[in-house]
Amino acid sequence: MAETAHCSHDRAFLPGTIIANPVIYEAKGEGAVSVLQVSWDGPESKPGQFFMLRMVRSGVVLGRPISVLDHQKGILSFLVAERGIGSRELVQGRPGETIELAGPLGNTWPSMPDSTGASASGPGSAGHKPIALVGGGIGIAPLLFLSKTMDSADFRFFAGFRSRPYGLESLPNQNLTVATEDGSAGYRGRIPDFFNPAEYRAVYACGPVPMLRRIAEDCAKAAVPCFISLEERMACGVGACLGCTVRTKQGNRRCCADGPIFPAEEVLFDD
Ligand SMILES: Cc1cc2nc3c(=O)[nH]c(=O)nc-3n(C[C@H](O)[C@H](O)[C@H](O)COP(=O)(O)OP(=O)(O)OC[C@H]3O[C@@H](n4cnc5c(N)ncnc54)[C@H](O)[C@@H]3O)c2cc1C
Ligand code: FES
Repeated sequence: MAETAHCSHDRAFLPGTIIANPVIYEAKGEGAVSVLQVSWDGPESKPGQFFMLRMVRSGVVLGRPISVLDHQKGILSFLVAERGIGSRELVQGRPGETIELAGPLGNTWPSMPDSTGASASGPGSAGHKPIALVGGGIGIAPLLFLSKTMDSADFRFFAGFRSRPYGLESLPNQNLTVATEDGSAGYRGRIPDFFNPAEYRAVYACGPVPMLRRIAEDCAKAAVPCFISLEERMACGVGACLGCTVRTKQGNRRCCADGPIFPAEEVLFDD
């Protein structure tokens, strides 16, 4: 998609200052991953939401959509993976530099009461099925934010990586299952290979499309509610350009304004 300026005026970009941006993962042939922390005076963010981000000194016109990893005491955190020019600039941002942010944007993970009425963000529900949070690679970010708002008895976190895991320090060990494709940590293989949705009252997932598709199919077979966060390419981020269309059983939806979280059963995955 060409980067035209007309999309970016639809939502004001506000300045923030980078406080820290440590690189937490680097591997030959893959981009680096950093935890970008920015001072932010704007509205509170909720788990599942994202911001459009760009450096002030940027060579790109459009912001890049990045999920909120955490938001506490006026500090927004993001887990950023270097893919192309926009994300590389974000990973390379230095403390003291100005960054432009538009957000928070998009919807949030739904609340899933259990049979006692306790919700995903409510008190624990020992004896009742927990919720499974399933993240692939950088897709762990919006689920980590959600996990910080949940009682540890109410969720299990499944994280899949190509190789070495990163970003999982905030999770209690007993809540975490890790898989790596090269077997360098946790189970060897992919999360859907040893994930049984029937053990959970709902499944929330974010990551590569093939993983989401498998999780969605397995949840449908087990009749377990499943919600997936989609990472379509975006331009305006606010529903104006139709550049982020998601095909659903109800027709086309905009990932930025109607999502990024959708009930998995409604999404039509492209073949
Ligand atoms: C709602 C949402 C939340 C996201 N959250 C995060 C996050 O927390 N952390 C993070 O690092 N990234 C996240 N992404 C993905 C991130 O926005 C893209 O990696 C980024 O926009 C790529 O821009 P670029 O200029 O670096 O790369 P480009 O030069 O535009 O592209 C470089 C490569 O990345 C691919 N690419 C571009 N956009 C996407 C995309 N949306 N999904 C998959 N591949 C893409 C291109 O096909 C190309 O191969 C999110 C995307 C969405 C829509
Ligand atoms: S990015 Fe413009 S409508 Fe979604």
